[in-house]
Amino acid sequence: MANQLLKGKRGVVFGALDEQSIAWKVAEHCVEQGATITLTNAPVAMRFGKIQALAEKLNAEIIPADATSLEDLENLFTKSMEVLGGKLDFVLHSIGMSVNVRKKKDYTDLNYDWMQKTFDVSAISFHKMMQVLYKLDAMNEWGSILALSYIAAQRTFPDYSEMAESKSLLESFARSFGYHYAKKAKVRVNTISQSPTMTTAGSGVKGFAEFFSYADKMSPLGNASADACAQYCISLFSDLTKMVTMQNLFHDGGFSNMGMAPEILE
Ligand SMILES: NC(=O)c1ccc[n+]([C@@H]2O[C@H](COP(=O)([O-])OP(=O)(O)OC[C@H]3O[C@@H](n4cnc5c(N)ncnc54)[C@H](O)[C@@H]3O)[C@@H](O)[C@H]2O)c1
Repeated sequence: MANQLLKGKRGVVFGALDEQSIAWKVAEHCVEQGATITLTNAPVAMRFGKIQALAEKLNAEIIPADATSLEDLENLFTKSMEVLGGKLDFVLHSIGMSVNVRKKKDYTDLNYDWMQKTFDVSAISFHKMMQVLYKLDAMNEWGSILALSYIAAQRTFPDYSEMAESKSLLESFARSFGYHYAKKAKVRVNTISQSPTMTTAGSGVKGFAEFFSYADKMSPLGNASADACAQYCISLFSDLTKMVTMQNLFHDGGFSNMGMAPEILE
């Protein structure tokens, strides 16, 4: 699979926690395709996750950053440019966390302070990240910025709770910032709307295992794996997709365009 599609490119990958993380697979594929990267995650993930093992394997430096902190983000991108030896060509935002879901609050009884925190971590961090990159002029022309989304941004999936609104906001930031970044430096900004995937964040949603199996049956190609998502990310970081921007791209085995699947009725 190593076609060197990212040869000579420099990137930053947010959100690799353990081997299940979508970002973990993306980081592996980026390096396999010839890129050099830095890895980042919240300082707390340094203690609970396995990011050090990934960094050793990929020979990549870890620069911790809370994605809600402008100061941390400035430090992250400045240091990444130093370590990698120039401006960046791609950035992956692979971050999601809902306080109300964690604390099992019902959607009709949400705590609004927690909701603010959820939006900040899961969506506003994407705007913050792009604003810092923009102000530091840290992206090369034709660079590519991606975030991971979910179809609950458009349709109702009751147990996804306030993460649905987080994803709507995330996708909207991709469209709005995508305009400004294209005008400034021809930088592309997109979101990938991924199938349910067995990860720490995914399995935090109530009834996830049953839902995973439902979506697998509903999708004519089956659920897209984290590995397949990583390959799609590579295509969007590569020079083969230069004119794709301000899009929400479904990577879901066909789920989003299905109405009814006979397999579910059987
Ligand atoms: N798993 C799924 O079913 C699924 C489906 C569609 C989209 N997504 C999205 O994919 C992305 C990655 O999630 P995943 O499924 O790989 O799970 P994951 O739990 O492996 O990754 C989530 C990451 O967010 C990081 N994070 C949380 N708070 C942070 C903060 N303040 N600063 C920096 N990082 C922080 C975590 O440490 C973790 O590495 C998320 O945006 C998620 O919503 C997941």
